[in-house]
Amino acid sequence: NASPAVLPSLLQCDFGDLRSEVERLQAAGIRALHLDVMDGHFVPNLTYGMPIVAGLRKLTDLPLDVHLMISDPAAYVDDFAAAGADMLTFHIEAVPEPAQLIQQIHSHGIVAGVALNPQTPMEALSGCLDQVDAVLVMSVNAGFGGQAFDPEAVQRLQQLRQSHPELLLEVDGGIKPETIGPCHQAGCDLFVVGSAIFGQDDYAAAVRQLRDAL
Ligand code: DX5
Ligand code: ZN
Repeated sequence: NASPAVLPSLLQCDFGDLRSEVERLQAAGIRALHLDVMDGHFVPNLTYGMPIVAGLRKLTDLPLDVHLMISDPAAYVDDFAAAGADMLTFHIEAVPEPAQLIQQIHSHGIVAGVALNPQTPMEALSGCLDQVDAVLVMSVNAGFGGQAFDPEAVQRLQQLRQSHPELLLEVDGGIKPETIGPCHQAGCDLFVVGSAIFGQDDYAAAVRQLRDAL
């Protein structure tokens, strides 16, 4: 397993002052950023696209993990790669047969991940688990921060860890000190956190609490 890492989700942060947000997160010891891209179509919420990724790329050398909650990721992979993404994760519900998309992501020399929503059966992933580098197990329905953690995600992580020991496993949604431990024990490597960091004044303390709960 990769060493566990907490990835702040840039969704509820201060978009008017991204520079200081990034500085505060780096000071808290964060090693990568999670960027939530939504198109108002795949999910009923709309966030941002390539310009914000490119802007963050100028602000930091931290790896940028881009979570594409969009209906047509293939149309934008090249642009997100050019903007500086280090990892691109698409949803299996948007692209049920992703062989070509995964190749396209890999052609840029970046990490390819597949995400699945809580109500999507795990079998949906079976065709691509040998091609992707990472699986993002959603523990809430993609679209909004601040939702409650679905404990079913723990079983999903465990199952994936057992069948595919080499995969990078990531969990996203409702992660806080009470829910991070079981995910870690199930074999998860990367923990995406929104509210439990950005809802607090002291990011370093929030990150410390999460790490202590691993
Ligand atoms: C939800 C996003 C998450 C979200 C997590 O669609 O993918 O990354 O920001 O936020 P919390 O930690 O508040 O559930
Ligand atoms: Zn996300």
